[in-house]
Amino acid sequence: MAEPLLQATAVECAYGASTVLFGVYLAVGAGEVVGLLGRDGMGKTTFIRTLMGLKAARAGEIGFASQLVSGWSPGRIGRIGLALVPEGRQVFANRSVDEYLTALRARRNGHAHGAAWDSRRVYELFPRLAERKRNLGSQLSGGEQTMLAIGRAMVTNPKMMILDGVTEGLTPLIREEVWHCLRQLRAEGLTLIVVDKCVNRLVEIADHRLILERRRVAWRGSSAQLQADPTVWHRYFGV
Ligand SMILES: Nc1ncnc2c1ncn2[C@@H]1O[C@H](COP(=O)(O)OP(=O)(O)OP(=O)(O)O)[C@@H](O)[C@H]1O
Ligand SMILES: [Mg+2]
Repeated sequence: MAEPLLQATAVECAYGASTVLFGVYLAVGAGEVVGLLGRDGMGKTTFIRTLMGLKAARAGEIGFASQLVSGWSPGRIGRIGLALVPEGRQVFANRSVDEYLTALRARRNGHAHGAAWDSRRVYELFPRLAERKRNLGSQLSGGEQTMLAIGRAMVTNPKMMILDGVTEGLTPLIREEVWHCLRQLRAEGLTLIVVDKCVNRLVEIADHRLILERRRVAWRGSSAQLQADPTVWHRYFGV
C-alpha cells in the first residue's frame, strides 16, 4: 500500500491535566475522504487543531506529505498543503470577498494537487459568492461566510482539506450547496477530512469513518459497514 498522505500515530491531546484524547491512530490515503463523527465535546476540534499545528500534541506523531510535522507551526504545515476550514468559519469582517481570495493566492503551494485553484474557479463553484465579490465579510450571510471560508482554503491549493463542522447552523438549502461543493472537491481527487453531525451526508461522501467517544476512537470502518450495522447507529447517534 502507498504511504498515506496523513498519518497520526498514538496521538494524545490534553488541556492542562485533563486528557481529551489518547491513542488516536489515523491514516488517510491520497484522494480518500474520511468522516469524523462524535457527539459534542468528544474532541473532534481538538484533534483537528492538533493535526494543523494549532495545538501541541502531548504525545504521538503526525506525518503529512512524507514529513514528520509534529511541532511545526500552522503556517509551515499549511505551506506543504494542509488546509483547514475552521469551526465557526472565522472570516475577517473588514475584507471583501475578492480581497480575501486574491490575497491568499500569494500563499499558494507550488506543488499542489491537480489544477490550480484561483478566485475564478471558486466563483464557479459558488456563484453566490461571485455576486457578493465586493461585500465585506461582515456583510455576508452565514452560508456565504462558509463558502468564503472554503474558497479561502481552496486558493492555497491544498493537497488535503479539513472541514470542521462547516454545515452547522446553516439553512437546509445552503447546507445542500455545501455538500454539493464537497462532492465536487472529492470528484477532483482532493483528500478530505469532514467533521459533521449529519451522519447521512457523511456516509454518502466518505470512504471511511471514525467515531470519537470518551477520549478515544470508539469505532472505525467503511461506509458500507456503518450502514450495515444498526447497533452502531443506535449506540452513537441514538437513532
Ligand atoms: N481551550 C480549552 N481549554 C480547556 N478545555 C477545552 C478547551 N477546548 C476544548 N476543551 C474541552 O475539550 C473537550 C473536547 O472539546 P472539542 O471542542 O475538541 O470537542 P468537539 O468534539 O469538537 O465538540 P463539538 O461537537 O461541540 O464541536 C471538551 O470537553 C471541551 O470542554
Ligand atoms: Mg468541535
